[in-house]
Amino acid sequence: MQLDLFNTEELQPQDNSQQEKQEILALRKELEDANYKYYVLSQPTLSDREFDTMMRRLQDLEAKYHDMADPDSPTQHVGSDLSQKNGFRQMQHMRPMLSLANTYSEQEICEWYERISKDLSYKPDIVCELKYDGLSISLLYENGELVHALTRGDGTRGDDVIDNVKTIPSIPWKVKDTGNFEIRGEILLPWESFDRLNKEREAQEEPLFANPRNAASGTLKLQDPRIVAKRGLDAYLYYLLADQLPAGTHYGCLQAARQMGFNVSDAIKVCHSIEEIMSFINFWDTERKNLPVATDGIVLKVNDLSLQRQLGFTAKTPRWAIAYKFPAEKQLTLLRKITYQVGRTGVVTPVANLEPVQLSGTVVQRATLHNEDFIRQLDIQEGDMVWVEKGGEIIPKITGKEQNPASPAQPDPDTAPSFRFITRCPECGSALLRDPEEAAWRCPNEDGCPPQLKGKIEHFVARKAMNIDGLGTETIDLFFSKHLIGNIADLYDLKPEQILSLEGFKQKATQNILDGIQASKQVPWSRVLFALGIRYVGETTAKKLSKRFTSIDDLRNATQQQLMEVEDVGTQIAESIHTYFSKEENLNIIERLRQAGVQLQSSDTPLTPSSDTLKGLTIVISGTFMHHSRDEYKDLIELHGGKNTGSVSKNTDFILAGDNMGPQKLEKANRLGIRIVSEDEFLNMINETDNI
Ligand code: IVH
Repeated sequence: MQLDLFNTEELQPQDNSQQEKQEILALRKELEDANYKYYVLSQPTLSDREFDTMMRRLQDLEAKYHDMADPDSPTQHVGSDLSQKNGFRQMQHMRPMLSLANTYSEQEICEWYERISKDLSYKPDIVCELKYDGLSISLLYENGELVHALTRGDGTRGDDVIDNVKTIPSIPWKVKDTGNFEIRGEILLPWESFDRLNKEREAQEEPLFANPRNAASGTLKLQDPRIVAKRGLDAYLYYLLADQLPAGTHYGCLQAARQMGFNVSDAIKVCHSIEEIMSFINFWDTERKNLPVATDGIVLKVNDLSLQRQLGFTAKTPRWAIAYKFPAEKQLTLLRKITYQVGRTGVVTPVANLEPVQLSGTVVQRATLHNEDFIRQLDIQEGDMVWVEKGGEIIPKITGKEQNPASPAQPDPDTAPSFRFITRCPECGSALLRDPEEAAWRCPNEDGCPPQLKGKIEHFVARKAMNIDGLGTETIDLFFSKHLIGNIADLYDLKPEQILSLEGFKQKATQNILDGIQASKQVPWSRVLFALGIRYVGETTAKKLSKRFTSIDDLRNATQQQLMEVEDVGTQIAESIHTYFSKEENLNIIERLRQAGVQLQSSDTPLTPSSDTLKGLTIVISGTFMHHSRDEYKDLIELHGGKNTGSVSKNTDFILAGDNMGPQKLEKANRLGIRIVSEDEFLNMINETDNI
């Protein structure tokens, strides 16, 4: 969705209230969606700046249209990291965990200071601290012992991730103070651990984390504390709460917390004037680049706790605090050349090759230009000076160009050279096609274009497909260039001497690859189907198709109608399957895979044998599932001695929750403190993991 974030009110005196009301609804939806992707999935789609700008626009519009007020609006509650099926116990926060008002403008910091000084009739001391870019945590101590560690959740309830938090060396399990108190702070993955983790993931061909925040939040929600311990999380604490606090000021409380053994940053200052505040901000804007952890701004808090109480809270934020956020770092550099990359699916992506420039600690010389429309919107071409930004994402972004002072602001469209996307594939020379529905240009030569052929092999060997060890991108490139492999079936004809003849391949590495290929012959039919790389047949669809069509021959002979009887299969997927089987080349490959002994049909393993693992347990099923139908889960519960009931009550032991669990069931389960068990966890419980 494109949103016009500019205020055009002055230019258009006519009534545009209907339009703005529509915009309120659109912004709410977009922001809720962004919150979910950020907090629950740890896969943000918007930069912080984009998110904040949209939130600000929504706040302004809501202030203008009171009749549109809605307590469920994202302006009225914090984003939620509660996930419906993560298996952690959820708990009510002792005191709500709120967010902070934020701004990118020094001017607005001054205004905030003026405003609170006016409200208090007094210029209060302000504590300035770094704003750590991780995820917030609330640690609860009873009689000096750490008893719960809650994520922010939806602000009122959080996930208790205590087992994971206990793996963080700087968090004490026990402190000398024997009282009950809560301390809040931020869990972070230091840069060094983040770089190491991403290197490991790259080697394992796992998707990289976009930034340390996402890595920290993904890590904290892992089910196995042993893996968490290896990741190297750290924590900084910044907010002490208790009925009886050790001091009357925020600063005093933090010093006391440090004395108790908590990791409280040294980068804290009590400022007595706006000038001192500004110099703290300016100092740390540069100095923060030398810190071991990511920070994204400065938090300003009224120091005196009684003045804090006087100022109080809004629904979502305290009035006594505000965050100043640093602007994303950006640099101006020369766009030397636009080159083009062909991906495994044939999509052609333009890439900006830049004059190398230093940005957030790394040298940037390439940035994606996404697609033709993106380049046209920015109106850039080779030779332009462009702005490069690095926000929360790893990949730098081009955000605009600097008008060349020598050239006119509005180039003459008749004479100015305009950007032209390439018309032929840079790899194989085929004429490119663009689906009018899509932004991308695509090379249609699926069976002859080298990156697409290599991509198919990479997909085939991937962990979630045939899981063949030792065959990374580089090895596949090498084998391909030496003509050892040209398609997936060739893998099964590889001879040890062919591999050993290549530089760098000794006995052990060679054997490893051949063993991996041999082992892949046991991979079940559902994963083989996914591994074939039929367009639009992802992991889930492959699972569903393989249940209905228990062999490749059945699938090949299925009519479009029969294919579409499978859940989630529509015309597009059905047509893609037909196209796949209509190609001679693919039929040859399938025949060779069959000869090699790859599983092209289901092995008739019976449903898991019975046990009494669930004896005496009452289980409610809710949501939709990936591996079995609801009826199959009912049978499985009974086979393992459990009892399935329809509604949640205090007698329910746990809820087996799939996707889209009903909100009422979830609410009731939360209220009664009933455990939510995910599908995979459940299958693990009954030891039926072959299906995962
Ligand atoms: S104080 C009632 N201090 O920023 C407000 N928060 O954008 C208590 N954060 O949810 C928060 N560094 O996760 C505070 N020095 C700091 C912080 C900090 C990072 C986070 C925190 C909060 C978020 C708001």
